[in-house]
Amino acid sequence: MKVNNVGIYGWGSCVPEGVVTNFDLEGMVLTSDDWIRERTGIIKRHVACRGEKTSNLAIIALQNAMEMGNIKPDELDLIIVATSSPDMLFPATACIVQDAIGAKKAAAFDLSLACSGFVYALCVGAQFIQNEAYRCVAVIGADILTRFIDWSDRKTAILFGDGAGACILKYKPGNEWWFFLGSDGSGADHLKIIGSGSSDYTPSGSFQKRLPTIQMNGQEVFKFAVRSMVKSVKNVINESRISFEDISKIIPHQANKRIIESVRKYLNLKSEKFYINVDRFGNTSAASIPIAIDEAYRSGVIKPNDKIVLAAFGAGFAFGSGLISL
Ligand code: COA
Repeated sequence: MKVNNVGIYGWGSCVPEGVVTNFDLEGMVLTSDDWIRERTGIIKRHVACRGEKTSNLAIIALQNAMEMGNIKPDELDLIIVATSSPDMLFPATACIVQDAIGAKKAAAFDLSLACSGFVYALCVGAQFIQNEAYRCVAVIGADILTRFIDWSDRKTAILFGDGAGACILKYKPGNEWWFFLGSDGSGADHLKIIGSGSSDYTPSGSFQKRLPTIQMNGQEVFKFAVRSMVKSVKNVINESRISFEDISKIIPHQANKRIIESVRKYLNLKSEKFYINVDRFGNTSAASIPIAIDEAYRSGVIKPNDKIVLAAFGAGFAFGSGLISL
């Protein structure tokens, strides 16, 4: 899918101060720093403290993006927050962000698609600019998934971290972006947060109270991740007729270094083509791609006008890629 005339004016991110290392996890579950590094590439992750909310991180990430783009709150027409760990089921976290930053004329809504949320939200936000419905759209990916971890489950406790990343979209004539989005709901059972929604009623109709908890079939998720990322990256490259040589970096969802390495092998690309920061942040869900872009941009790894490819996958199953220019 082609999207015309959209540009990015500012990136920002925010992670909680608290850090949990692999060594900290050794004291909580039967695992080891060696095992986690070897199987995932993760060394540490930032974890929200008690009282810290998804909106807190989203607000700071957006403020940082607005500062970079020199955007005033009353310029914003729309705020989209991609999150599957909102402050509450309602109000939408996007409305809380809108009020906190004083974006008085902005519409606001959340988009829930787990780790693929940011790429979908970017595609949706870009449509409003392309259609000339809005002039200035904020797209945020923010998650505190560590709230839903069973810290005695070593399969999931090692993977996730918290954070938020944001960007500002505005009209940029001549720019061409490409997206490919997909889903396969037959994989829904392989990655889910039980106890978190309307399905948690017993057949008799009484509410079955249980703490919202992530459940995952890691191997199925791994296979889907590789398959879907290869497919969606190939699609945006083929459709755009832009070659990999013209792409400055592929910025994949940061879930597991071995997943990224498998994708790299299937695409037959060099390691330098991929930006990886999962070692320091773990899987921050919808925040992982914008955090990685913000970090790569601020450190000069990617530069204004560079073309980059984003590749996401996650619960749903859902997946999506975007070929965008900075
Ligand atoms: N520490 C130590 N040992 C662990 C462990 C941990 N944290 N987790 C699992 N193990 C053990 C298993 O019990 C198993 O032991 P066994 O052979 O005695 O039964 C062994 O390690 C291998 O387990 P397995 O599940 O096959 O490991 P894996 O190589 O598939 O790695 C994941 C597990 C979770 C790291 C991997 O499957 C993965 O990353 N999947 C994708 C998950 C993901 O990205 N989720 C988010 C998507 S948005």
